[in-house]
Amino acid sequence: MQRPSSNLRARVFPNHWSLLFGQIAFYSFVVILFSGVVLMLDYKPSAEQVVYDGPYGPLRGTEMSRALDSTLAITFETRGGLLIRQLHHWATLIMVAAILLHLLQLFFTAGFRRPRRLNWLVVFGLLVITLGAALTGTSLPDDMASGTSLAVLDGVLQATPFVGSALSWLLFGGEFPGDVISRFYPLHIAVLPAAIVVLFLALRRKSGQTVRGRAAAVAVVKRVGLFCFVVGVSVVMAATATINPVWLYGPADPADTSAGVGPAWYLAFLDGSLRLAPGWEVVWWGRTISFAVLLPVAICTLFLALVAVYPFIEERMTGDRKEHHVLERPRANPIRTGIGVAGIVFYGVLWAAAGADTLAVQFHLSFNTLLRVFQILLILGPPAALVITRRICLGLQQQDTEIATHGIETGRIVRRPDGGYVEDHRPSVRQLMPR
Ligand code: HEM
Repeated sequence: MQRPSSNLRARVFPNHWSLLFGQIAFYSFVVILFSGVVLMLDYKPSAEQVVYDGPYGPLRGTEMSRALDSTLAITFETRGGLLIRQLHHWATLIMVAAILLHLLQLFFTAGFRRPRRLNWLVVFGLLVITLGAALTGTSLPDDMASGTSLAVLDGVLQATPFVGSALSWLLFGGEFPGDVISRFYPLHIAVLPAAIVVLFLALRRKSGQTVRGRAAAVAVVKRVGLFCFVVGVSVVMAATATINPVWLYGPADPADTSAGVGPAWYLAFLDGSLRLAPGWEVVWWGRTISFAVLLPVAICTLFLALVAVYPFIEERMTGDRKEHHVLERPRANPIRTGIGVAGIVFYGVLWAAAGADTLAVQFHLSFNTLLRVFQILLILGPPAALVITRRICLGLQQQDTEIATHGIETGRIVRRPDGGYVEDHRPSVRQLMPR
């Protein structure tokens, strides 16, 4: 007898918008690959110092690395260079957002249960590696903004007790900033993209979206349509919205930083965690250990580790080892949905805290009070979100039961023969279905 799962697989092609994020991530990766190869033609991965004498006046005569010099040449001298740079950057943002939304969709619909537990790990790995590719990519122009992010990264590594200096030495190939560009370049253009290709292939094999006959032709047309849509949106963004204007930031300098330039939105939660950590310090074995860095690093690592292993924790806690081939509505599992919303609130508070200085200036608030409010929200927000979400889910379940038993309210009040008034209900789809 044929297994029901293989039967289903032969017919399933995702149509609902929430099931398309994986494909959107893949298509934006194709855009990144194409634009990356074009950028490679003119980009010079070299820290050698040169004096800028290109067409951009404000920087003329400034000493900078050959990497930034070539990025400015791509921007101002190569025909279509700025468009390709912005296309590469916007497609990166779309890819990260699509993977994050794909993870959320898998979480809230329980798409991570057996036999797709490894899918979850693959998508999570895809997210981590794409973040690595984005971080190494934004470091390549060697401008002030990327230099500042790397200085923060170096500070965090150095603050790790015992192994910090060695880790920093390993990453930067010497004392910061070391030879970071020539170390990151091969990682960025070859190692990390290759790992991403492997993970996409694994995902395709595991999701088993096989369609046959006429359905296959329809699926291909839909895929091509979605691909054109992703390319179109990325090109429109690249052509109309400036992103990473390195010419305004100037060259990286470890002794300097620019005000108002924050980390990319997807890494902002790490920055927020550093801002919210209390400045506690202890001296152990003659060494000063600062919790201002250790605590946020530990908490963010724990958070990401819990996200990665969540399917295994849920399986162990609920004892549900059955195979599932149908997604679940978020309201059907109030605790899981509550945990998911609590996670979003935790991430969101850290994320918002990364913009605390801008918020304080824009809204004329005290920076310290704002940080205190975020600290309180970080502790109380997630449990409150869990409780409220759980109640909402239970309420929605109750509403579903009402509709299933009494039908859908029509808003039409009718008078009964005995003089009483009742609201008319029309039968729900479930009531109409043969039992
Ligand atoms: C998922 C994979 C990738 C991601 C997320 C990514 C992301 C980025 C980002 C955000 C930048 C900074 C762009 C800017 O200047 O605003 C960048 C720069 C760059 N990327 Fe990628 N990239 C990826 C793959 C590739 C590949 C496969 C290549 C080459 C085949 C490539 C070549 C380059 C080059 C040459 C630069 C420096 C030029 C510049 O910054 O304008 N990238 N990348």
